[in-house]
Amino acid sequence: KDRIFILAVESSCDDTSAAVFENEKKLSNVTATQKVHEAYGGVVPELASRAHQQHIVPVIHEALRQANVKMSQLDAVAFTKGPGLMGSLLVGNAFMKSLALSLNIPLIGVNHMQGHILAHFIKDEVQQKAPNFPFLGITISGGHTQIVKVNSYFDMQIIGETLDDAIGEAFDKCGKMFGLNYPAGPEIDRLAKSGNPLKYKFAKPQVKGLDFSFSGLKTSVLYFLQKQLKENPDFIQQNIEDLCASFQHAAVQILLDKIKKASQLTGIKTIAIGGGVSANSGIREALKSQSKQQQWEVFIPSFEYCTDNAAMIAIVAYFKYLEHQFSDLSITAKARLNL
Ligand code: KG4
Ligand code: ZN
Repeated sequence: KDRIFILAVESSCDDTSAAVFENEKKLSNVTATQKVHEAYGGVVPELASRAHQQHIVPVIHEALRQANVKMSQLDAVAFTKGPGLMGSLLVGNAFMKSLALSLNIPLIGVNHMQGHILAHFIKDEVQQKAPNFPFLGITISGGHTQIVKVNSYFDMQIIGETLDDAIGEAFDKCGKMFGLNYPAGPEIDRLAKSGNPLKYKFAKPQVKGLDFSFSGLKTSVLYFLQKQLKENPDFIQQNIEDLCASFQHAAVQILLDKIKKASQLTGIKTIAIGGGVSANSGIREALKSQSKQQQWEVFIPSFEYCTDNAAMIAIVAYFKYLEHQFSDLSITAKARLNL
């Protein structure tokens, strides 16, 4: 059979997403984001799983409608088996198991992190070119910060990761200190554009090898603000652009240093980034200028495939389908899961 239709669902955190693929081609990718968490300044797990429960049926219907594919045409169904929030994962897991059972088609459990890394292989009208193996997959989001050596679709190895906070978490937590709403990443990015990135210096972590630490940066920002606010209670409002620019500069440098090191150690010059933080203009500019200096070839997927989405689950499912890597109906959700 040369036309394989797959329906995939992603429900690992706070986005309910469904995608329909024909082979590696995206036919639809529909995501319902959850607004309920904004008031709490972060994702509330219990509320997330309830919202997934409400969204999963309409999101799947919409994905099938946009793709113009009927349930009866599907060759397999896929879902995120982990890592993520247990209650959120369980919704996608249970629903897709039932669907596989009732349609009598294969079920494919997909690792969320593999999805982020292989999102570069999704084909659509805009995104056509994928990195060649081996490449360095850099996953940067609110929940992850990893450098992965990707040898082939299913042979990948984490060579560096954060020991504490994820980079997106650092943006969100420092943004909160600056009085910005959750998630603060996009707002910091916007304000940083009119600020001076070299105005304030924050502590740089001393972490060996390719691992990251972002909690030191957060503490450094906190102590700096406490000191300044004692002298001038309006310090933040008066310097918000410089604060955002200087913080962003520090975070980007931490990331860039390790990518450079990873490239030197492995000899790999193909760099493929993904995750919500890859939207950041400071990171995009830094990678662009480095690609000239270091002769890197840099890949950044369309933003739609950077944030959590079901299309990245569908592309992995397609590669697994080709290798008959199917899951048993006894498959369980895994909050923690290695590559
Ligand atoms: O991939 P994603 O949507 O969800 C997770 O899996 O975490 O990433 C969300 C994260 C948040 O921390 C958000 O602040 C950050 O990505 N983010 C940004 C930007 N856009 C989103 N951080 C910095 N600059 C941006 N432009
Ligand atoms: Zn993610």
